[in-house]
Amino acid sequence: MNDFYNKDIISIKDYTRDQFETIFDYTEKIINLDPASRREICKGKTLSYLFYEPSTRTRLSFEAAISSIGGNSLGISDISSSSTQKGESLADTVKIMSIYSDVLVLRHPLDGSSRFAAEVSSKPVINAGSGTEEHPTQAIQDLFTIKKEKKKIDGLKIGIVGDLKYGRTVYSLLSGLSNYDVDVHLISPESLRIRTDSIYEIKKKISFTESTDIEEYIDDLDVIYVTRIQKERFPDEEEYLKVKGSYVIGLDLLQKMKEDSIILHPLPRLDEIANDVDKTKHAKYFQQAEYGKHTRAALLGLTLNENGF
Ligand code: CP
Repeated sequence: MNDFYNKDIISIKDYTRDQFETIFDYTEKIINLDPASRREICKGKTLSYLFYEPSTRTRLSFEAAISSIGGNSLGISDISSSSTQKGESLADTVKIMSIYSDVLVLRHPLDGSSRFAAEVSSKPVINAGSGTEEHPTQAIQDLFTIKKEKKKIDGLKIGIVGDLKYGRTVYSLLSGLSNYDVDVHLISPESLRIRTDSIYEIKKKISFTESTDIEEYIDDLDVIYVTRIQKERFPDEEEYLKVKGSYVIGLDLLQKMKEDSIILHPLPRLDEIANDVDKTKHAKYFQQAEYGKHTRAALLGLTLNENGF
């Protein structure tokens, strides 16, 4: 039986380096399969999605992924049109959706929501973003992108820039990177520094520096992972306005970067990467979004097939 069969995907912390490499191998297999063979992988399987927060990439890439491997999808993307509006609980909604599908994808504003859903669901639950805590399938996509574009992960110098306090992708990515031999530089406004309590375990496995100055390491980085300042998670708009626009990656900054460095972003972006950076060889964030469909297809194929595919 493969390690992922019939299992929830809740936290990136639950995976080993070997398991990441297995996912990467299956992702390559998905990319290289002809469309007809790909459609056999999850033929007749149904994915359901339940999104309590807005999403473009995660929800649509899951839908595109299951469709590409022969399955179908149904779900709730606008919670106001569901019976949640009548007061139905998350537990009951999850129980009902797991009756109608083979795997359930959940995004929810509360930390711990996916783990709770997994306890009440009769089908595997995939965390598509829980509070400020985790976004594990984004991290798998990010690690795959780094490996694909840089041909390795070990030995790289990686800068993570922006909202390190509220950005859940950062915590999942740091946790994933802690399985590799990398140097990490965290760059954020003082008020948006990484939450030390949330990286207590990660700190034992990975070394990193913290800084407010993006220029300090820019000429030495192989990967710059840029994040959006998460306005919706600030308790006070005044505090958001103080840090809005703190970092903008523009063509001027690109001049200082290594020739072969790459820029990633989980997206959506606001103003933290200038649009004219998109056409440069450094910009890999749209490629990263495309890899998200393939890594999710691989995860679904492994979750829904006992012996892999
Ligand atoms: N990266 C990401 O989670 O994007 P969405 O919020 O659009 O799903």
